[in-house]
Amino acid sequence: MHIVLLGTAAGGGFPQWNCWCPPCRVARADPSRAVPRSQSSVAVSADGARWFLLNASPDVREQLGRLPSPTPAGVRHVRVEGIVLTDAELDHTLGVVLLREARRIQLVATDAVRRVVEDDSRILAVTRAFAEVAVGEMVPDQPFGLCHRDGTPSGLRVTCFPVPAGPPRFAREERFAHTVGLLVRDERTGGSCAFVPGCGGFDSDLVSRLGAADLVLFDGTFWTDDELIGLGIGDRTAREMDHLPVSGSDGSLARLRHLPSRDRVYTHINNTNPMLLEDAPERALVEQAGVRIGADGMRFTL
Ligand code: MLT
Ligand code: MN
Ligand code: ZN
Repeated sequence: MHIVLLGTAAGGGFPQWNCWCPPCRVARADPSRAVPRSQSSVAVSADGARWFLLNASPDVREQLGRLPSPTPAGVRHVRVEGIVLTDAELDHTLGVVLLREARRIQLVATDAVRRVVEDDSRILAVTRAFAEVAVGEMVPDQPFGLCHRDGTPSGLRVTCFPVPAGPPRFAREERFAHTVGLLVRDERTGGSCAFVPGCGGFDSDLVSRLGAADLVLFDGTFWTDDELIGLGIGDRTAREMDHLPVSGSDGSLARLRHLPSRDRVYTHINNTNPMLLEDAPERALVEQAGVRIGADGMRFTL
């Protein structure tokens, strides 16, 4: 299985258009010290040519342009076979409507996520004015085989599991599995990748799920719980926003560092997070723990 980190920033990207926090300032002035990043999304493929997206970000157009793919024979070619959603947040779903030129789009989501993109954000309703959208329902703990647009099996299976988080602000109801983590497994090689871009807690169940994956891509939104409050740009803590901070004795790094997985990588990193600075002590702490800080274009083969 081939895995490409298409985008590794949280909503707003890095630098964020309206932000002059310390990392955003450095990213503009000296990008070699703080490498810009697009909004979080991952591409997975069993054959290196036909790709599935894990979430579709508002930066999807530029992201797909960087995806390895053979030159197509025809005039039109859709290099995305399907899109698997972890939740219905805007930074993970606006890319669906931006892919409307595909004329036919395959989505895979839980019933709760489908309802929010259908009825609350209405992203599916708008997309359907341009393209046929088929939604495959993913049920927690039931492996779902991903198929190509022509109906043939891809050899990739995805299993979802609910993670602690609230529903999007615009969701009218809170339903079971509105936010999930994904485990993608290649049936041929046995390689597996866990993708958890938004997660408000880390219990022993999550430790064992993630520990079973070869590659773990995890929520690296905030360094500290009071990051936005400290900068004077927010009034909610990281945990109140359903993002477990990286640092601290009960932060995500303390858990990830002990996982037996071959690679552990932070993604969905908010622009305020000091670990984005190449020379920051926070970054060194993460790397010393054997965990990597995701960057756009990072690739893995499992
Ligand atoms: C989040 O990661 O918490 C959401 O993407 C928030 C947002 O979209 O503003
Ligand atoms: Mn987000
Ligand atoms: Zn910023």
